[in-house]
Amino acid sequence: MDLFSLKGKVAVVTGACGLLGVQHCHALAEAGAQVVVADLNEAACNNLAAALGPQHLAVVMDVTSPASLENAKNSILERYGRIDVLVNNAAINDMFENPLLAKEQSMFENYPLEQWNRSWNVNVSGMFLCSQVMGTAMVQQGSGSIINISSTYGVVAPDQSIYRNAAGEQTFYKSPAYPVTKAAVLGFTRYLAAYWGNKNVRVNALSPGGVENSQDDHFIQNYAAKTLLGKMASAADYKGAVVFLASNASAYMTGANLVVDGGWTAI
Ligand SMILES: NC(=O)c1ccc[n+]([C@@H]2O[C@H](COP(=O)([O-])OP(=O)(O)OC[C@H]3O[C@@H](n4cnc5c(N)ncnc54)[C@H](O)[C@@H]3O)[C@@H](O)[C@H]2O)c1
Repeated sequence: MDLFSLKGKVAVVTGACGLLGVQHCHALAEAGAQVVVADLNEAACNNLAAALGPQHLAVVMDVTSPASLENAKNSILERYGRIDVLVNNAAINDMFENPLLAKEQSMFENYPLEQWNRSWNVNVSGMFLCSQVMGTAMVQQGSGSIINISSTYGVVAPDQSIYRNAAGEQTFYKSPAYPVTKAAVLGFTRYLAAYWGNKNVRVNALSPGGVENSQDDHFIQNYAAKTLLGKMASAADYKGAVVFLASNASAYMTGANLVVDGGWTAI
């Protein structure tokens, strides 16, 4: 199992305190890495890092801010002297605050430019900036693995019919921003893998499927029926994939997209 070991490696996870980020942190820590818990909320970062153990570090980081990223990088290098793994996980899956307006506002014809820009800023520009700042440290040390989190919807378009309620009414439409930004993650992954291939910095994407997280039963059934395994994912279902991409187990893999979606995109 040495191939999967991350002993002595420093792994940065952005959006670390969200539903999947927490699991990525646990997975990397269990494989032996020193984990940098990076997110917007200081208390949440501190709590998660403390739960992981004293060898891990909490860092407040806004992936859309170059100054915040530089500060974070300096803190990480000061503490550990290196960065081996970066999981670009922070993203906005845009929701409409007012459910009564959700259907109208989420229609493509009405979808607000401001909301499109907000998603683009975090999901794409944030990944770009974070890779630039953290990845440059990897290039300088001569090795690294970057994992960009995409989605099933980076690979295929949303099936809007799963957002109909039991009465067959469309309650909202999946926005254009999420699938387009997640597709951009795949393009960026290929770009950077090609650019840094000769620097021994590997860049891959992980495309998870939807995670069951207290959605209503009808939606869960609709979603499950789209997958070959007949169910939504659990948040822990991506732990193995993250460790695989971070570790030497995937040493000859770069520019690829690891799809872990219960088979949704296979048919
Ligand atoms: N949950 C799913 O079903 C699912 C499915 C496929 C892909 N994904 C992808 O997995 C990743 C994590 O999703 P999640 O469900 O855990 O989301 P989440 O909303 O639970 O967590 C996202 C985290 O990102 C952080 N964040 C937002 N903007 C930030 C910024 N500017 N700087 C730093 N951090 C910021 C938030 O504070 C939050 O903790 C995302 O890239 C998402 O697109 C999720």
